[in-house]
Amino acid sequence: MSFPDVRMRRLRRTEAIRNMLNQFQVQPNNLIYPIFVDETILEPVPITAMPGYFRCPLDQVIHEGQTALEQGLKSVLLFGVPAEKNETGSGAYAKDGIVQQAASKLKDHFKEELVVVGDVCLCEYINHGHCGIIKDGELQNDKTIELLGKTAVSQAAAGVDIVAPSSMMDGQVAAIREALDDANFEQTAILAYSAKYASAFYGPFREAADSTPRFGNRKSYQMSQGTLKEALREIELDINEGADMIMIKPALAYLDIISLAKATFDVPIVAYNTSGEYSMVRASALNGWIDEQAVVHEILTSIKRAGADMIITYHAKNVNAWLNYT
Ligand code: PBG
Ligand code: ZN
Repeated sequence: MSFPDVRMRRLRRTEAIRNMLNQFQVQPNNLIYPIFVDETILEPVPITAMPGYFRCPLDQVIHEGQTALEQGLKSVLLFGVPAEKNETGSGAYAKDGIVQQAASKLKDHFKEELVVVGDVCLCEYINHGHCGIIKDGELQNDKTIELLGKTAVSQAAAGVDIVAPSSMMDGQVAAIREALDDANFEQTAILAYSAKYASAFYGPFREAADSTPRFGNRKSYQMSQGTLKEALREIELDINEGADMIMIKPALAYLDIISLAKATFDVPIVAYNTSGEYSMVRASALNGWIDEQAVVHEILTSIKRAGADMIITYHAKNVNAWLNYT
């Protein structure tokens, strides 16, 4: 059958019909809202490269959690900006580290109502800004994953529901699972940053989290842009090591990876709509060049359509502005 028997436009005739046929709807409960908690400030500090986004003082995390819940969001992802950095990144696994303090405040206040996810990495806490311990110019993979295990346990002790290791060290998921289980946190889930590409889209984040590497780049641990099957290997390894959910990052330039992962694996898939993706939209909107709400709606729908079950996005903060945009 073909035209004139087939008329595709019949099912596009009215808005109600179009809505009825809609297969992919972004829901606030599938969004994860990132918060940068800064130990050194008393008032929110704007992040220059992320217009409309702020570093949050510890005293205001409850307010942020409240804002999230009021918009129908269910979860926040915590990043920490510590008062001090050192060679071992000890702020990441300190009992009273900034993420640990923020998490326990949030969990004391909101209990099970709010899901708290903790980013597990050393880069924000280590003086050179790389995602692991460096000795004689070499990244110490196995020493690093031991410290990531400690970090995960300290976050779980503070009440974090889900730990999200982002350093791209080999074996990080297994090390974290073992450390959590040994400390009786077998119910703490792991969201693995499995296919995290070495990307220029992280630029604004590094200002936000003050985690720019002082030398070199992250290409010896984050994935190369020109690889595809390697993402499947990374994901499979993480599932075998005990990841409960896996992540692909960034989202927009890697929609093919999200689709492939969705077709290949049964675990829940998370996509990270990164800082650079957010800032490009904001910059363009602030210039009056695009309809921001329509564009955000379209971008997040595309990530969902590619196969993401959940999306980490800085746009979550304004979810009500664009959610019902058609
Ligand atoms: C650090 C980390 C980064 C992001 C999340 N965790 C930056 C990096 O790897 O350089 C990026 C988030 C974003 O750009 O929004 N482990
Ligand atoms: Zn890192």
